[in-house]
Amino acid sequence: MDPILSGLLKPKSIAIIGASSTPGKIGHTVVKNLLDSGYEGGVYPINPKDEEIMGFKCYRNVKDVPYVVDAAVITVPAKLVLEVTRDCGEKGVKGLIIITSGFAEVGDHETEEALVELAHSYGMRILGPNIVGTLSNSDNLNASFAPFLPLNGKASLVSQSGALLIAMDAASFVRRVGFDKMISIGNMSDVNFSDMIAYLNEDPDTSCISLYVEGLKDGPRFIEEARKATKPIVVLKSGTSAHGAAAAASHTGSLAGAAKIYGAAFRQAGVSQADDLNDLFDRTLVLSLQPRMTGDNLLVLTNGGGVGVLATDAAEKYGLPMKFAPADVQEELKKHMPEFGSAKNPVDMTGMAGNDWYYTTTKFSYAHSWVDGLVVLYCETAMTDPQGIAESIYKGVHESGVTDKPVTVSFVGGERSDKAMAWLVENGIPAYGAPDLAVKAMGTLREDARMVEMSRSSAFLPENVDSAKARKVIAGARANGRAALTEIEAKQVFAAYGMPVTGTELATSEEEAVKFAAQIGYPVVMKIVSPDILHKSDAGAVKVNIKDEKMVREAYKTILDNSLNYKADAFIDGVAIQEMAPWATEVIVGSVNDSTFGPTVMFGLGGIFVEVLKDVTFRVAPISVEEAFTMQGEIKSAAILHGVRGDGPRDKTALAKVLATYAYMIHDLKDEIAESDANPVIVYEEGKGVKVVDARIILTKK
Ligand code: ACO
Repeated sequence: MDPILSGLLKPKSIAIIGASSTPGKIGHTVVKNLLDSGYEGGVYPINPKDEEIMGFKCYRNVKDVPYVVDAAVITVPAKLVLEVTRDCGEKGVKGLIIITSGFAEVGDHETEEALVELAHSYGMRILGPNIVGTLSNSDNLNASFAPFLPLNGKASLVSQSGALLIAMDAASFVRRVGFDKMISIGNMSDVNFSDMIAYLNEDPDTSCISLYVEGLKDGPRFIEEARKATKPIVVLKSGTSAHGAAAAASHTGSLAGAAKIYGAAFRQAGVSQADDLNDLFDRTLVLSLQPRMTGDNLLVLTNGGGVGVLATDAAEKYGLPMKFAPADVQEELKKHMPEFGSAKNPVDMTGMAGNDWYYTTTKFSYAHSWVDGLVVLYCETAMTDPQGIAESIYKGVHESGVTDKPVTVSFVGGERSDKAMAWLVENGIPAYGAPDLAVKAMGTLREDARMVEMSRSSAFLPENVDSAKARKVIAGARANGRAALTEIEAKQVFAAYGMPVTGTELATSEEEAVKFAAQIGYPVVMKIVSPDILHKSDAGAVKVNIKDEKMVREAYKTILDNSLNYKADAFIDGVAIQEMAPWATEVIVGSVNDSTFGPTVMFGLGGIFVEVLKDVTFRVAPISVEEAFTMQGEIKSAAILHGVRGDGPRDKTALAKVLATYAYMIHDLKDEIAESDANPVIVYEEGKGVKVVDARIILTKK
């Protein structure tokens, strides 16, 4: 474990700079909280006026403390923070917990940067500024102005919002979700989410890392640390408005939004994304108490048909469609239900199920090799005692001897059921007040296992890449003062990475057009090539299905006339003569250079799917071929790629390779390509490949 971060988050001694004897002041509350939380390390209040605060000897300056000081909580006004930071550096403090507000969050980036520079010059790390502080049950440490330590548990929360952390602290008791640590990171001037993931992954008191994120500063490092982490990570991301869309020059740019790209990055990093605050609690509970679900077989035990059906619906919704249990499982389970019960799955033991049946069916099902995850449901009845049922489930789970597969529970009933569920949670079994939530929790564990597996697949490395050639084409365009490549240039760049582009030549005379058309082979497509005409069809500057020399000559003239009518002063490079790819399923592949995560690849079906429905999916580049397959399955219109209306399945293998190659290309050229599109890309039947028909590249500003 990083010794400096340990000094900051697990300090053996703490100075409170700005400690106050006046109740109601933050500097007072922090000292009181350290006392109330039972902190056993050294507590050294620092205040130039006081001799003693709450029984602790007070020092005028941190440098006067005659003992080692690991961490300093700073609660003096912003204008004094630099000065006390220098004092801490000279004292040899390891880390600063800067509660004080009034830095980058109000626009003062300069002081905040100076603060970090100063702290680093002494080898100190900074938590904050603009934070509530840090709390840890395992260290009896409340170094914050949050009212008390959270409900004790195995999750640890890292929050960018201080107020939300305080709220979740109090809510942990009501929601019965236990936390070991709650760490406020505020402005993240120094210590950020990536540092916290790396630290908490090593922390023996944390089993699940729970994050509230407003924005990340270093996307690629976040992905890297999250991928390395062996513990589950769950995130609630706020601020989902689109960014940059208005200014986007390419198609992909207008479809990219912060929310979509964050979502993609979380999936790639193996991070479970919560829909809202309730969901953050629900996911944190299950991820902190249960192992991941490594197979698809879900078994549901119930004493009520209604909740069984609700569970079945939820199972389909959350990616775990129910299957009938195998014959041997059904046979055994039939012994623990009346004639009119059902052993299929959901296993309905009927309202006659009591403690014994819950115990035996739980123990048997949980231990059976077919079962990858078990959900136990219970509806409160007059003949049963919820606490007895809870204890029977617990006993069944524990006596099965199994520890590597998950179980969740839902009791539907009144106060007695609620108490029984609290008992289950205290004993490590997540329990929810609705059957769909217990199934959703299981879906979270399955999704987490799938994401982790995918996040470990290695990025695709295409063969025979000629990046020098691609860079030469780009340099040529830059030398001409252009910010966008022509279609022909963009295709040359794509081809240098092995993308299957349609053959294209640039004709600068009618005669050349005729020559190239004959070389490429009829029919051909002809298009204007002009940096001033990006929307060629609107200008009437595209002609398709040109079948012979006569048509080439006519088209050449028409395209030039139409282009000049569209934009009289347009600079014309010439007319592209292009192989006419037969039509099949049209898709779009594109990229944007995201400000947080860098180059990001997009995929969707072409035409109305992208124009109207915006049915697209993203990944941060580079990606693996497996990930490229997943992208194809993720869009709502995925069924079209499987083949519809008599068409055979499309060549998903070739498409996956193109997507992965494209991602490699935009990553390799991230200093050059700002946005790009391969649109349309035609996907043929299985085994028949893919063709990139049109290409666009917008260059980065240099
Ligand atoms: N060394 C040590 N103590 C000093 C020094 C010094 N060099 N100089 C002054 N002090 C003492 C002061 O005398 C005072 O003690 P006293 O009560 O005995 O007089 C104490 O430090 C605090 O200084 P004040 O000037 O009284 O400042 P105050 O307590 O009003 O405010 C604070 C300081 C809390 C840091 C304020 O500036 C601030 O930033 N508040 C916002 C904190 C916050 O909300 N953080 C984000 C949380 S996230 C969320 O939204 C919940």
